[in-house]
Amino acid sequence: MNKTIAVIRGDGIGPEIVGQTLRVLDRVAEKFGHTFIYTDVDMGGNAIDKWGEPLPAAMLQKCLDSDSVLLGAVGGPKWDNEPAHRRPEKGLLGLRAGMGLYSNNRPAKLWPQLAAASPLKPSIVENGIDFIVVRELIGGVYFGNHSTEECEGEKKAVDIMAYSEHEIERIGRIGFETARKRRRKLTSVDKANVLDTSRLWRAVMHRLAEEYPDVKYSDMLVDNAAMQIVKDPSQFDVIVTENLFGDILSDEASMITGSIGMIPSSSLGEGSRGLYEPIHGSAPDIAGQNKANPIGTILSAAMMCRYSFDMASEADAIEHAVHTALNEGLRTGDMMADGCRLASCTEMGDAIVTHI
Ligand code: IPM
Ligand code: MG
Repeated sequence: MNKTIAVIRGDGIGPEIVGQTLRVLDRVAEKFGHTFIYTDVDMGGNAIDKWGEPLPAAMLQKCLDSDSVLLGAVGGPKWDNEPAHRRPEKGLLGLRAGMGLYSNNRPAKLWPQLAAASPLKPSIVENGIDFIVVRELIGGVYFGNHSTEECEGEKKAVDIMAYSEHEIERIGRIGFETARKRRRKLTSVDKANVLDTSRLWRAVMHRLAEEYPDVKYSDMLVDNAAMQIVKDPSQFDVIVTENLFGDILSDEASMITGSIGMIPSSSLGEGSRGLYEPIHGSAPDIAGQNKANPIGTILSAAMMCRYSFDMASEADAIEHAVHTALNEGLRTGDMMADGCRLASCTEMGDAIVTHI
């Protein structure tokens, strides 16, 4: 197969981790007889420096013209004082909205080799951690109107959180369908004791639940969910939730698995074109030092093969190669442990490429 991939190297460690991931994809192409054609796209801080805005229209168009998009990470202290519309994050939000990517899938899976790195007690970890946060990605408070105005002698800021039934229904269906392919358990997380958006969310979910009698459905309030994730993560299979709650809970979920550097993600809308990125940030403190963990991005490429290109064996091969490298005791600094061998970003890439 021929596939075009828009490649956003981004800021900070982005170029390093994406560089290793492209080597892995090239090896997959060679082994399985595919051709991957890469188009470089500027987005984030680098685009602000080069073009004066985080996501120029022509760059979004390049993404829309490709079969899928691979992203490293964007942002950094250099752009922290930019006005809201010129911040790197604005580029990311623009890309998600511009591509219609309403469904963000963030797996929280404990790699057995890294169990000791989890901050949770062994007695909790040994029950297993393997769940997915399905996060609504282009609605809610992220995309409501934001304003700050003078009001009675002081500043007043307002962020609007809105959800329509169709926005809830389409992400709800992804939640149920994802659960169907796994252990058939769906937890919908909301704040229905306080928020109208959550009460509507819950009503739509209950309607959908009748269509999926084979999925064991339950509601959970977001504060309780935050607690349950650290108390007993093994109870979860699929969590579906709105944008802001999903942002927060997915960081919590990644942390308990030991290293945020290991977690990939996919963002999808209608059709097969997606955006694939690790869930960690641009780590400016170690940028350019060849220390970053490329595995979150490499596993994101595996998800791209699986979900956008229908290449299951190719995805399996990448994931298996990661397993093998970890089994050999190779670790980047973020997950280094006694008895293991410290690997640079490129050494980790070398090992994974070799095992495909
Ligand atoms: C994430 C990030 C982004 C978000 C930021 C960078 C805007 O935290 O992908 O989780 O809040 O969605
Ligand atoms: Mg986040």
